Amino acid sequence: MSKPPVLTVDGVAQAVRLSERVHWIGALDPTLRTFDIILKTANGTSYNAYVVRGDAGVAIIDTVKENFAGDFFARLESVARYDEIKVIVLNHLEPDHTGALPELMRRAPQAQLYISQKAQSMLKALLKQDAFDFTPVMTGDKVSLGDRTLTFFHTPYLHWPDTQCAYLVEEKTLFSGDVFGCHFCDTRLFNDEVGDFRFSFEYYYAHIMRPFKEYVNRALILIEPLPLNKILPAHGPLLRDQPQRYVQRYRELSSPALQSEISAGEKTLLIFYISSYGNTRRMAEAIYEGAMAVEHVRVSLYDLEGSEITPFVDLIEGADGILFGTPTINGDAVKPVWDLLSSLAVINLKSKLGGVFGSYGWTGEGVKMVEDRLRGLKLRVPIPGIRIKLIPTEEEIQICREFGHDMAQDLMGLRQPKVIDMADLA
Ligand code: FEO
Repeated sequence: MSKPPVLTVDGVAQAVRLSERVHWIGALDPTLRTFDIILKTANGTSYNAYVVRGDAGVAIIDTVKENFAGDFFARLESVARYDEIKVIVLNHLEPDHTGALPELMRRAPQAQLYISQKAQSMLKALLKQDAFDFTPVMTGDKVSLGDRTLTFFHTPYLHWPDTQCAYLVEEKTLFSGDVFGCHFCDTRLFNDEVGDFRFSFEYYYAHIMRPFKEYVNRALILIEPLPLNKILPAHGPLLRDQPQRYVQRYRELSSPALQSEISAGEKTLLIFYISSYGNTRRMAEAIYEGAMAVEHVRVSLYDLEGSEITPFVDLIEGADGILFGTPTINGDAVKPVWDLLSSLAVINLKSKLGGVFGSYGWTGEGVKMVEDRLRGLKLRVPIPGIRIKLIPTEEEIQICREFGHDMAQDLMGLRQPKVIDMADLA
């Protein structure tokens, strides 16, 4: 183990050398416990920013959260003068990386800002001024610092529309923004020196990147071919030891699990229910029976009482269709259903088929409420939900079978639109 980096001298924050031309000038936030309201962190986070020196000028890559600007500027001043700064790259405009930007622009007014095309309107909103200069860049665009060159890769939705990565060609170093980052604060900085941060890395992926797996896979197509000496993310350890492992892990996390269990051409339909007196359960079983009659649909039936939420979220992520059965109690759907629905923000649900059913005693609002929620989550709800008062009759059980059958057929693209005879409306 090498000596830990010197972060301060006589109480003044110092830059940390990563190579002859690259320094870390970020800030540590060890007492943070909740990030962005939703993310927990057991030992804080870091806001990583960097200086790159070329023989024709200096580039600053990202800044830090506003409260930490003091450390950022002190570190910057320990390795560069403001009048040397030619380029400021913002890989992502969220305030934890742009908090010190207005002051940096004031101190280095000659510097040109480089942001992704998608970041333009955000930058205006952030700086609250119209007249400032910036260069929007796309994948493949380059900026020269003389004997050092930065190339940009547009990697949208990792995890905002504006996100991009910058690659320092001569040093095979990727400044990756939030990608490959995590909330883990450790003064030893480097991945081969810090404590065990695997949990934080996976947790960060699960909460920040997982909803955008499709975009992660697209970004990996750009990143995987790059020779990599280091990945320098915007949070957490600096990945200098086997950086490719983290790229590989992103690929694994973004690939469908147990793909081979479902054969090509098959669709998966999950039915979740919870039942007080067995009535919603009877409906669920009839819907299951009806759906099972459709070829090439793999149907599963789950009682929400029987599991923790996390495995169900994983199942839903891989499913093509999801049906929810809920009783109505005191004018609302029941808590286990809401708990599951409120846990789905970490996955992409767009265009999955959704549907709702349930038994009720008085008013039965729960079904409609859940249906609205499914639409809000961007599921496709092709058939209105079914509600049955108390114990389903044999005719009503048959309606449930048909509901399941129709949903499964819809999933396979086989459902015929209902033809309404105008005579029936008279
Ligand atoms: Fe670290 Fe999305 O900001």
